[in-house]
Amino acid sequence: MKLADNKATLSFSNGSPSVEMPVYSGSIGPDVIDIRKLYAQTGMFTFDPGFMSTAACQSAITYIDGDKGELLYRGYPIEQLATQCDFLETCHLLLYGELPDAKGKEDFTKLVTMHTMVNEQMQFFLRGFRRDAHPMAVMTGLVGAMSAFYHDSTDITNPKHREIAAIRLIAKMPTLVAMAYKYSIGQPFIYPRNDLSYAANFMRMMFATPCEEYEPNDVLVRAMDRIFILHADHEQNASTSTVRVCGSSGTNPFAAIAAGVACLWGPAHGGANEACLNMLEDIQRNGGIDKIGDFIKQVKDKNSNVKLMGFGHRVYKNYDPRAKLMQETCKEVLAHLGVQNDPLLKLAVALEKIALEDEYFVSRKLYPNVDFYSGIVQRAIGIPVSLFTAIFALARTVGWIAQLNEMISDNDYKISRPRQLFVGSEKRDVKPLVQR
Ligand code: ACO
Repeated sequence: MKLADNKATLSFSNGSPSVEMPVYSGSIGPDVIDIRKLYAQTGMFTFDPGFMSTAACQSAITYIDGDKGELLYRGYPIEQLATQCDFLETCHLLLYGELPDAKGKEDFTKLVTMHTMVNEQMQFFLRGFRRDAHPMAVMTGLVGAMSAFYHDSTDITNPKHREIAAIRLIAKMPTLVAMAYKYSIGQPFIYPRNDLSYAANFMRMMFATPCEEYEPNDVLVRAMDRIFILHADHEQNASTSTVRVCGSSGTNPFAAIAAGVACLWGPAHGGANEACLNMLEDIQRNGGIDKIGDFIKQVKDKNSNVKLMGFGHRVYKNYDPRAKLMQETCKEVLAHLGVQNDPLLKLAVALEKIALEDEYFVSRKLYPNVDFYSGIVQRAIGIPVSLFTAIFALARTVGWIAQLNEMISDNDYKISRPRQLFVGSEKRDVKPLVQR
């Protein structure tokens, strides 16, 4: 970051001296006011619950222009990456800063592929869960447990450890998600097959059985790969910030990523794809397209607590570019499977059209986000709804680990320790029990 030409001056109406604060510019995007010395100079904190106006770090990984609806990974538009690269090339880009050349791609693919198996003991850990446990509960446990299985890559201050942990996490997440699924349906685990692509291997581990081989289908594999690319990173979102905060204490990388998995689970974040599909199925059950009007009325009623899931975003105040790509994939997959008349797709398209024209959504700049169509694609591929968020976690792992490594490599990084505006009781004395 570089100092901008101007400075910010904060003045007070009570006559306290005003303070000047430096302003920094990044390569693109809004400037930031550096308030790091504010407390020392004024004895005051800034107040920003939910981080509406706070840049918590400097980062060179992902850039979002929410007004334009633009998403760049290391400068490359998501539309170009989604149509010209595969997921492992995208991982290479996020982790190391550049797309690989042909040899680099081959080497990186080999490196990740060599790590796809998990320690055999891991399955006994998994077997401790109830079979009906939510996959995200299982994944939070499994990813956290990796620190107990891979002792040689838990020192976050050692760059070599960080690199091995990154590769292990990227390589083993598909194996773990597929194992969690197989366990939930009582089928034997399927070991990875390293001659397949990252996405095809994942789908085979999900859908093959020892009695029947699974032939990966090109269109569906491409769709899965695109889902991975679109979810790979997204700037300082809730789960990524969680990973950074957790990792800032110096904890091991697997524990920090497990914290990200836990955060992602919530319906306001990664859980929205599951919640969105459940919402579409509910509307379908209760009358389908004819009842959309009633549903939209409920959404607009402040007292109903009903949200149009898959709509709205903290940063995008325009169409989420990932939603457009996901809608394309959705149409391609359903056409390939011969289900152009899928009732949920029809419902989603109708819902989107109404919402995009309705004053409530227009005035609040609410547009479809990536989750609006991803559930329909995943359901068509055969992925159960409860697994959607685990697949999001699989894809986001590279972003989390790239952001964690970026933070640790930054000499200026400090433990994250926000302060507060205290509104509780002032100091008071404890009375003896009989007098309370
Ligand atoms: N349906 C109906 N109203 C909405 C929606 C929605 N999906 N999203 C926002 N609003 C309304 C709010 O009620 C609020 O209205 P008000 O100004 O009258 O009070 C206004 O739009 C602003 O919304 P906030 O909640 O203040 O926006 P915030 O940035 O805090 O929330 C969030 C963003 C959490 C994504 C929100 O839009 C939401 O809950 N969407 C549905 C869940 C979802 O799809 N999440 C996925 C996000 S993408 C991802 O994580 C991959």
